[in-house]
Amino acid sequence: MTSSVTAKPRILTGDTPTGKLHLGHYVGSIENRLALQNDYDCYFLIANKHAFTTRADKPDDIRQSVIDIATDWLAVGIDPAKATMFVQSEVPAIDELSNFFGMLVPYPRLMRNPTLKDEIRDKGLGDNYAFGFLWYPIGQIADILAFRPDMVPVGEDQLPHLELTREVARRFDQLYCGVDPHTQDKDYIKAGGLFPVIEPKLGRIRRLVGTGAPGPGGQLLKMSKSLNNAIFLSDDAETVQKKVMAMYTDPNRVRATDPGNANPEQNPLWAFHEAFNPDAKWVAENEDLYRQGKVGDVAMKRKLVEVLNAIVEPIRMRRRHFEQRPDEVIDVLREGTKRANAVAEETLALAKKAMRQDYFPRVLNI
Ligand code: TRP
Repeated sequence: MTSSVTAKPRILTGDTPTGKLHLGHYVGSIENRLALQNDYDCYFLIANKHAFTTRADKPDDIRQSVIDIATDWLAVGIDPAKATMFVQSEVPAIDELSNFFGMLVPYPRLMRNPTLKDEIRDKGLGDNYAFGFLWYPIGQIADILAFRPDMVPVGEDQLPHLELTREVARRFDQLYCGVDPHTQDKDYIKAGGLFPVIEPKLGRIRRLVGTGAPGPGGQLLKMSKSLNNAIFLSDDAETVQKKVMAMYTDPNRVRATDPGNANPEQNPLWAFHEAFNPDAKWVAENEDLYRQGKVGDVAMKRKLVEVLNAIVEPIRMRRRHFEQRPDEVIDVLREGTKRANAVAEETLALAKKAMRQDYFPRVLNI
């Protein structure tokens, strides 16, 4: 199938607007997107409807988060001339496809999704979550398949959703496009399928720890806004410094860097140096000195402040530009959403055709 927009292979991914982006997002997925935007036809979705699954009572927050995420994307260097940034709720074909896809997912299969279970537990949703909360993995399948992407860059926690997406693509192609169930995943399109059995692409660092002490289980916790252990891409230099200088370090240094038990996960200081310090030799040498007690926390933290601010400063500068021009941000989303609609509408028409529900051309004009 040829793409309607360009011949480059396609990427689709997205963020739920829950706040501003932090360093965990940066190494988990943003870096990937920056690297890929030159060679792929990229679609980056702001999943504002997903935000409503647990925060339907906070529309103003969600609105602000949408703008914040778009501003962050532009600030990190996502280039709207290369990548298409768009708003989920303005692409109706996604909703229409989710309706059809919902018929292809057995309910018990949906409820086995570990990401859903974790979210119910971590957000304390009890058994009071909205029906729409259970629907969101179906929506996510449509977010992805509407773009028939070749690759989906995500964080590790999204893998269960991607597995479900792969299952729906196979099922659709088998049911409606006559694809033989024995076909290998990579050959579904060649075999006449409409939807590719997509491949996830994980970031360089799968799980960046936060700046805080280990949790009750003894492990350091993932960087997360809600755990109050995050360094944001929008933090100013002074805030970065304060957060780093106050960062937890393992009081028993040996545990942090003992080569026999080398687990930087035990000491955020070294997890951060390893993730962000471009001078691997410096890191190796100083980790060793640190283990021997020859260099102290303060010096290592000062160096980390330097390293992080060097990364965040250009982001901050671009952020300032867009913060002062919210209209420019909206224009980028408007243009991106137009391009996203062109692709999603094409997919919807092809899906309806495959499903024998193409009675006459669509009368809606999007
Ligand atoms: N669920 C994702 C998250 O919370 C966001 C998301 C929505 C997404 N739709 C997507 C990610 C499609 C990848 C592909 O991070």
